Amino acid sequence: MKIFLDTANLDELRKGAAWGIVDGVTTNPSLIAKEGKPIEEQVRAICDIVDGDISAEVVATEFKQMVEEGRKLTKIHKNIIVKLPLIRDGVQACKALESEGIRTNVTLCFQAGQALLAAKAGAYIISPFVGRIDDMGEDGMELIEQLVQIYSNYNFKTQILAASLRTTNHVIQSALAGAHIGTMPFKTLDALFNHPLTDKGLEQFLKDHAKAFGNK
Ligand code: E4P
Repeated sequence: MKIFLDTANLDELRKGAAWGIVDGVTTNPSLIAKEGKPIEEQVRAICDIVDGDISAEVVATEFKQMVEEGRKLTKIHKNIIVKLPLIRDGVQACKALESEGIRTNVTLCFQAGQALLAAKAGAYIISPFVGRIDDMGEDGMELIEQLVQIYSNYNFKTQILAASLRTTNHVIQSALAGAHIGTMPFKTLDALFNHPLTDKGLEQFLKDHAKAFGNK
């Protein structure tokens, strides 16, 4: 499973990229707004840090404007993926942009039927939001399992990007279900490293080594 960072924060991206395990980045209008810079500037800086698919979302909600905004976003960098909300005009814009060779990420997916529409429109990526479904008292991971099954039934090429992953367990379950990509905030990626037995084991190894050889 590819690992994407779900952030527009450059410090977090630099830290994650330095570990050598970040394959791409997802942003959304809220994440861009948090950094306080115009999308072109922020996304260009992100592309300089991470060499992989970088999703940048349109804020237009009507077909024609969505397509125009999408085309403009791709001018920022060759790695830009145009993110479009899963509304009627968004799916229509997905079809239009994909037919021009522009790759799209159809976002805000909460049901398998919506994901079927995005795949039929030729989306490069579909983004089902696991955490936000859990927030409603339902099981977000079920949606990932359904999409993996449906896309495999019909050999759709659209990649399933498990989004809104809030916990390490979300990441593990997404990988088990067969999601192609998992996108997560920096703190979730950082938490994936942690295990108390790793810390305890390392402490003991170093103690034993120091006892035998000193602190060389
Ligand atoms: C996906 O691309 C979204 O930006 C993101 O995963 C949303 O996560 P949230 O529900 O934690 O805001």
